[in-house]
Amino acid sequence: MFKKDIPEKDKIERILDAARLAPTWANMQGMHYIVVKDPEKVKSVWNAVGQRQKFAEAPIFIVGAIKEKGSGTNGNGEKYYPVDFGICFEHLLLAATAEGLGTCWIGWFNEEKIKEVLEIPKAYRVLGLTPLGYPLKQKESVQERNSLEQIVHYDRF
Ligand SMILES: Cc1cc2nc3c(=O)[nH]c(=O)nc-3n(C[C@H](O)[C@H](O)[C@H](O)COP(=O)(O)O)c2cc1C
Repeated sequence: MFKKDIPEKDKIERILDAARLAPTWANMQGMHYIVVKDPEKVKSVWNAVGQRQKFAEAPIFIVGAIKEKGSGTNGNGEKYYPVDFGICFEHLLLAATAEGLGTCWIGWFNEEKIKEVLEIPKAYRVLGLTPLGYPLKQKESVQERNSLEQIVHYDRF
């Protein structure tokens, strides 16, 4: 749930700068960010997400895009662009939180529709996007997480 106010330009720029500074495969820096402010386009992005009821009208979106060739391939032949995407986008979300803004990584959406609305070239993949705005109220807690005992291993799995 978001207030209607659009976050200040300097805040948005600091958030984008945090993403810009993220490490990427061989420093390839393949990420692009589309800041969606035009109310009609914001509406179209909501439609492509189709989860509007959960978030109630964020004033803007930031959409990430990366070319498959915008990153490397590891020793097992796996493309690394989704990893670069994840690192950069998480930098962006953490910086937004530090600025007092609300976000939610959205991974479920119609990628073709988003690309069409925002005129993103075919070679790019959109792997995530986030609404961005001032939260109506501060989150009281995050969902429960596994304990360190459950996930940390020493010297063997
Ligand atoms: C890769 C990724 C994709 C996600 N996609 C969605 C999504 O499409 N819709 C949604 O409501 N939340 C989505 N989330 C948010 C997670 O559901 C949420 O972060 C998780 O349940 C933990 O909740 P918390 O951050 O409130 O503790 C996504 C999170 C990640 C990291």
